[in-house]
Amino acid sequence: MPAQPDYTLRSPDGHIQVVFSLDGHGSPFYSLEYKNKVILEPSRLGFLLEGDPPLNRGFFVTNLERRTFDETWEQPWGEARYIREHYNEMKLHLQEESILRRELIIVFRLFDDGLGFRYEFPKQPNLTDFRIADEQTSFDFAADHLAWWIPAYQEHRYEYLFQRSPVSSLAKVHTPLTLETADGLYLAIHEANLTDYAAMVLKGAGGSGLECELVPWHSDPEANVVRIRAATPHRTPWRTLQIAERPGDLITSYLILNLNEPNVLGDVSWVRSCKYIGIWWGMHLGIYSWGSGPSHGATTANAKRYIDFAADYGIEGVLVEGWNIGWDEGFLNSKDAFDFTTSYPDFDLEEVARYAKEKGVRLIGHHETGGDVLNYERQMAEAFTLYESLGVDTVKTGYASTLIDGVEWHHGQRMVRHHQEVVELAAQRKIMLDVHEPVKDTGLRRTYPNLMTREGVRGMEWNAWGPDGGNPPEHTTVIPFTRMLCGPLDYTPGLFDLTFQGKNPKNRERTTLAKQLALMVVLYSPLQMAADMPENYRGHPAFQFIVDVPTDWEETLVLNGEIGEYITIVRKDRHSDDWYLGSITDENARILEIELSFLDPAVQYVAEIYADSFDADWENNPHGYEIRQELVDSASTLELVLAPGGGQAIRLRPAIQSWFLQDVGALEASAPGG
Ligand code: NOJ
Repeated sequence: MPAQPDYTLRSPDGHIQVVFSLDGHGSPFYSLEYKNKVILEPSRLGFLLEGDPPLNRGFFVTNLERRTFDETWEQPWGEARYIREHYNEMKLHLQEESILRRELIIVFRLFDDGLGFRYEFPKQPNLTDFRIADEQTSFDFAADHLAWWIPAYQEHRYEYLFQRSPVSSLAKVHTPLTLETADGLYLAIHEANLTDYAAMVLKGAGGSGLECELVPWHSDPEANVVRIRAATPHRTPWRTLQIAERPGDLITSYLILNLNEPNVLGDVSWVRSCKYIGIWWGMHLGIYSWGSGPSHGATTANAKRYIDFAADYGIEGVLVEGWNIGWDEGFLNSKDAFDFTTSYPDFDLEEVARYAKEKGVRLIGHHETGGDVLNYERQMAEAFTLYESLGVDTVKTGYASTLIDGVEWHHGQRMVRHHQEVVELAAQRKIMLDVHEPVKDTGLRRTYPNLMTREGVRGMEWNAWGPDGGNPPEHTTVIPFTRMLCGPLDYTPGLFDLTFQGKNPKNRERTTLAKQLALMVVLYSPLQMAADMPENYRGHPAFQFIVDVPTDWEETLVLNGEIGEYITIVRKDRHSDDWYLGSITDENARILEIELSFLDPAVQYVAEIYADSFDADWENNPHGYEIRQELVDSASTLELVLAPGGGQAIRLRPAIQSWFLQDVGALEASAPGG
């Protein structure tokens, strides 16, 4: 009897195992075990095509290729400098037995931290131009795990508070989807390298499994519509399942980046991370307007004031929103209103760009489309060229609207193609991007390092006008384990006036001030905004932490954390020997013991500690904080006392022994602007 073919793949450490199989109808399935425990029961693979027979049965395996890859690559910027890409791969070539003899390739890659698999459609006579009605990939979990989720196909895109409930209760949800198992594993389903395809939404069917649903071209997900338009050769994004024994290990898993192609832009020394402030929060509070009028925020004089502040404190960037014509029409889905190259009369773009350059500050440009993407596409080449000609090397784009051009979801193939075009246009002009209302991050920053960060989260701005009053204290202890798994997030932390008087009296920020500082470390963004207005920062002793904290990291470690409760992250500066720690809690006060064993054992450090005061709490005393210094080393343990809704931020810098006595206590005296 011939030996049964072995379609088993193991991760390099042997802990994860995937088995591919064909059932009696020649339909493809895969299953997965972690440390001999079944995680995925045999789960379906395949496609329904529009106008062609399905590509999901009648297959046999024509060829099987295996390989191992182990290289370490360097990120030009990021949350860690070196990333090890170590996987075992199994590539199955399938062909139909039927008369059509169509071919499909399925590639599995197993890393020590999880699985990636993708489909390839090779060039072939009976599959040329084709349309995918849906992808039938499923994730049939062996048990009904708890999921942290946000709903798909909703008005506010990804901008929702995460909810927690069993997989069996889910309807349609976005990825990354983070799961907790009863026996203490943490899983995340997402996708990598979303290129010329539609984003994957996960659909529940009442059981413990989830199915892939591709976001359709047309806005009605129930209609029998086309989801992908393709021609062979083509391939799907990688479907990913990350596996961790501690929730924090999902954060330091670089599997999504590892499943993207290396940098295609060549020399990217022009791509630089930075902190920025902006003419921005004032608009959300109603102090300024985006459009013209007596309270217009983006005036030449105001922009210069922001630039002066940035120059005084060494903040590298200044964003200016509301400088160009179009805001007065009401920007949500306003047709052809935005003009991306014409300023309001009280804003002199050339002069502001010149002034920023003179002061050594990066002016960050802004393209808000209001979802009127056809209008933007007509103008965007010229709009980027204008910024390039003025030395504006960073642009925040925005797509605030429920639907694009009134008909398309933000995450279908139409918009994936659009963003691809924008990133290439920007790269040709050496421009970096911060995308708001984006397609979720799938790691494309590895291939296009100018695609630096995205919003795609219920961010700080919701505290100004969210109808529910703003984000609860728990929110920022959830998003590092959920939204942040896909990539950097432009959450815009760093508020100092936490009880601001905005347009909506019941709105406020629900953290302490020390937690705002900690968020600058916890929430990773290579373009990191300090969101408040200069008048709330100038002369404030705690602003020193924002001045000091870097945005480009050598290494990131998650020291502790529970989803929706607390988290402590330390990151090492890429350009000095300093470490920075951010620790945050939900609405509960807590004390966390932190061992500093990550520090260089040969060095003593000064810990500059920005802590909640003993009587601080988010509700009644959010501004209570204290700054103190301690001498520590790698054998030290720190006790972090976090107030309700509080946090702690620490800079750890090498102490030079003879200077130590001067160092201690000197911090307040050296506070900026004092
Ligand atoms: C929504 C973005 O998230 C926000 O940052 C921006 O200010 C507004 N759109 C207007 O562009």
